[in-house]
Amino acid sequence: MQALVIGSGGREHALAWKLLQSPQITRVYCAPGNGGTQQMPRCQSVALAATDIEGLVRFATVQGIRLTVVGPELPLVEGIVDAFQAAGLPIFGPSRAAAQLEGSKLWAKQLMQEAGIPTAPAAGFADLSEALAYLDSRTPSGKGSYPVVIKKDGLAAGKGVTVAHSREEAVQALEAALAKPGERVLIEEFLAGQEVSVLALTDGQTCLPLLPAQDYKRLGDGDTGPNTGGMGAHAPADHLVTPQLLARIQAQVLDPTLQALQRRGIRYQGVIYAGLMIAPNGDPYVLEYNCRFGDPEAQVILPLLENPLDEVLLACIEGRLADLQLKWKPGYAACVVMAAPGYPDSYERGIPITGLEAAAATGALVFHAGTRQVGKQLLSDGGRVLCLTGQGATLAEALRQAYAAVEQVQFPKAHYRSDIGSRALGPAVRRGVVPAS
Ligand code: AMP
Ligand code: GLY
Repeated sequence: MQALVIGSGGREHALAWKLLQSPQITRVYCAPGNGGTQQMPRCQSVALAATDIEGLVRFATVQGIRLTVVGPELPLVEGIVDAFQAAGLPIFGPSRAAAQLEGSKLWAKQLMQEAGIPTAPAAGFADLSEALAYLDSRTPSGKGSYPVVIKKDGLAAGKGVTVAHSREEAVQALEAALAKPGERVLIEEFLAGQEVSVLALTDGQTCLPLLPAQDYKRLGDGDTGPNTGGMGAHAPADHLVTPQLLARIQAQVLDPTLQALQRRGIRYQGVIYAGLMIAPNGDPYVLEYNCRFGDPEAQVILPLLENPLDEVLLACIEGRLADLQLKWKPGYAACVVMAAPGYPDSYERGIPITGLEAAAATGALVFHAGTRQVGKQLLSDGGRVLCLTGQGATLAEALRQAYAAVEQVQFPKAHYRSDIGSRALGPAVRRGVVPAS
């Protein structure tokens, strides 16, 4: 069977890599793919943008593709699944209506509030003066309390959320979020705790959680600097999410989310990604939903999955998830993202990269996130450029392998965090110098 992966990042490289492990899969096309997907045997890049829905439907029809998986959120929110389904093409991912879970933060908040899913109290606004009045009215003093979280409605490529530590900052964020007519914003109470990503597969009826993962979103060590798409991750996050807590997340978050979608007449098929805050007392709260695999969470979850990925995805598409059991490899996976200088603001492209054979020789998986092959030369071609995934019997071992691979990469001026793993192992973790396991 031939499969199609839509997107060009590290997540899509990991999806294509995992699909190619399956005995059923003869070839994987990546649209548009990257320098890394292109290098894999039986993997071919297709020069179509992830949002070229018409072109992708045509390609999948002509090639007779029986399994398509969508990496990024934008084509999902724009209705790629509806278009494929209308053409009779099997595709993994939520419909446009279902993808509102990520596509509109106000819609998702309302769904959570109606279904009694634990989440921070919040209110939505389209009008700046009303939003400002609410900002101050949140406390009896009329001064509001800070920090407060301002969320722009709609997709914002990771830039839509401001944790405002003062009224001035909040006002600035509200003004920016409501600058154009028709824009909406959510004012949400700040929650303290530890963040974890719980992704679940669903066919619309059954919901199977994947291994919980932790993502390191800020650019710098010690969670400093601006938010990014994610600078590293590890799984399973079992130091935080015990089997009991996962069962609770299933009962209080995942299942009620699916039921609330069903009540709206929406069949959700694909990944429901719950970005959770685990409060100091252990209670889980939903910060946000995503309607797809996480990046870089996919790069640590997929290497630990035993099942052939095509079987899992087809079970979701065909409504057979209740019959499927997910099997996981023992141990841990951890990844470190190497980013271009300047990321997440404007960044340099075209930086030559070498040393990837040596990086792979450490045993780590070398996923490309933003690269381009030009002749024999590999060039950086994105903000997040490489994602190196180590595996091991312990998290410390997995981290050591990931950082050993990083050391082998020659990528001038690359930026990466040296404290991936510190959430689980403590702040002493630096650059793979991890406590004895
Ligand atoms: P994203 O929506 O992925 O851009 O991420 C927003 C980030 O803002 C989350 O990963 C959290 O770190 C933070 N965040 C969002 N909502 C809240 C909240 N209610 N309380 C505290 N932090 C939040
Ligand atoms: N790692 C965060 C995301 O995929 O949205």
